[in-house]
Amino acid sequence: MNSFFVLPSLLAADPGRLAEGCARAEAAGADAIHIDVMDAHFVPNLSFGPATVAMAKRAAPNLPRNVHLMMTHPHVYAGRFIEAGATTLLIHAEPEYDIRATLAAIRGHGARCGLVLNPETPAQAVFPHLNDVDEILCMTVRPGHGGQAFMPEVLPTIQAVRRAADAAGRPGLTIMVDGGINLETAKACAAAGANAFVAGTFLYAMDDMAAGVRALRGVC
Ligand code: DX5
Ligand code: ZN
Repeated sequence: MNSFFVLPSLLAADPGRLAEGCARAEAAGADAIHIDVMDAHFVPNLSFGPATVAMAKRAAPNLPRNVHLMMTHPHVYAGRFIEAGATTLLIHAEPEYDIRATLAAIRGHGARCGLVLNPETPAQAVFPHLNDVDEILCMTVRPGHGGQAFMPEVLPTIQAVRRAADAAGRPGLTIMVDGGINLETAKACAAAGANAFVAGTFLYAMDDMAAGVRALRGVC
């Protein structure tokens, strides 16, 4: 069992060869594939839906599916993504909906759950939910597009979430970062308390993704 988790982001794979993108991640020894769902409302872009999650399960059956719902109404769609094969569902803290009930519903459907913070959202937004989640994702770019530059101003948020998780009796809580992750930024995030790293552009640009996965684990 790794204590540092590496998740290639499918958004950076060749859109005409997504199944191959999943198989590559599995062969590279990644811990899960990260699948970004965008609704063109919560974020100004569209991406994948439940059919992509089902495809990932067929293409790489042993690779868990970490599904990031960038949606205004995640509670309406959670069940469909779990039926399609999501292993973990990540929902955002910012939209107006019943977060507590949605986290409970995700677990009730047999999936893992996590709460996501945008770069500007204070760490305090996740504090009431620390005992009800399997992971917290701190966005290190504004969500909606791959290939953006890492925002170092999120590092204090990661530290604050890690301290709060320790204080809440959840020292092993997975704290994930997503956006602009490479060897240098992963190291800074790990020092702040992150232990799970989503990387799209960095990993899919490599000829040898397995070396990239190992290198990311190595800097932590
Ligand atoms: C951004 C997505 C990320 C994205 C990361 O909205 O949530 O998962 O794929 O891509 P890179 O690693 O290229 O910044
Ligand atoms: Zn993501």
